[in-house]
Formats: sequence, C-alpha cells, structure tokens
Amino acid sequence: MVCLGNICRSPLAHGIMAHLTQTLPVEVDSAGTASYHVGNPPDPRSIAEAAKHGVDISNQKARQFTPNDFKAFDHIFVMDRQNLKHVLAQASSQQEMDKVQLLLGDTEVEDPYYGGEEGFAIVYNKIFAACTSIISAWEKA
Ligand code: 4NP
Repeated sequence: MVCLGNICRSPLAHGIMAHLTQTLPVEVDSAGTASYHVGNPPDPRSIAEAAKHGVDISNQKARQFTPNDFKAFDHIFVMDRQNLKHVLAQASSQQEMDKVQLLLGDTEVEDPYYGGEEGFAIVYNKIFAACTSIISAWEKA
C-alpha cells in the first residue's frame, strides 16, 4: 500500500488489508514515495479512525518505497496518480509495472492531510470497500 508520506492513507490501507486477511496467507506492508516522515508513526487522525473500527495501526512506522518492493510483493496498490507515476518510475521491467494499480481502480484516494477529521472517515470507507472487493476477487480466482 503506497501513498506520499506513509502516515495518513497507506497506513490505513495497510491496517485494513492486514485485518481483513488475518486468516489468509497474505503479507501486507505500506510505504511512502517521499521520505519526509520516515520512522514516524501514522498521523493521529489515521490512528483514531482505524481504532474506531477495531483496527490498531499505532505500531506502524513510516518507510520509503524502494525498488526492492517490486521483488518483495506481488501487488502494489497506490492511492493516487502522483504515487502511481513515482512508483512506476522505479520499475525495471514490464512485469514490475504490471504489479502496480490504483487501489480504487479508476479513481484516487485523496490526500486528507490538510483537511479535517471527516476526510479520514471518508478515506477509511473508500479503502475498506476497495480491500473487501480485492479480497473477494482473489478468493474467486
Ligand atoms: P499521506 O498524506 O500521503 O496519505 O501519508 C500526507 C502526509 C504528509 C504530507 C503529505 C501527504 N506532507 O506533505 O508532509
């Protein structure tokens, strides 16, 4: 799960996907394309929104996306088109590029960082719906 800072959106996506795949052989992680927040915990608004739904993301620590993530993961879900561009720029083959997709498919998870708490609830709901439908597609495959 990849966003810009790895403190707002991708920690929620990481926590939600990990929560929903607890009984499946799936490894979930998250990263940011930027380095500003490396080592930091998620934004308190993301921690609070996740906690409302019984998902604990308080132990996560931000890290930066690296080209090695293409080797380590089968799927790379990005939150917006800027993330998509920055991640694709680090791919070294078509096979790596093919691992990358917008989490919402055709639209973006907008950055809630500069807005209010309500933005985090909207982000949570969009990410939850996307993760649910991705898992059900995997289960049918
Ligand atoms: P995120 O949100 O990409 O969802 O983690 C942001 C967090 C921090 C900044 C931008 C977006 N920032 O500019 O510091």
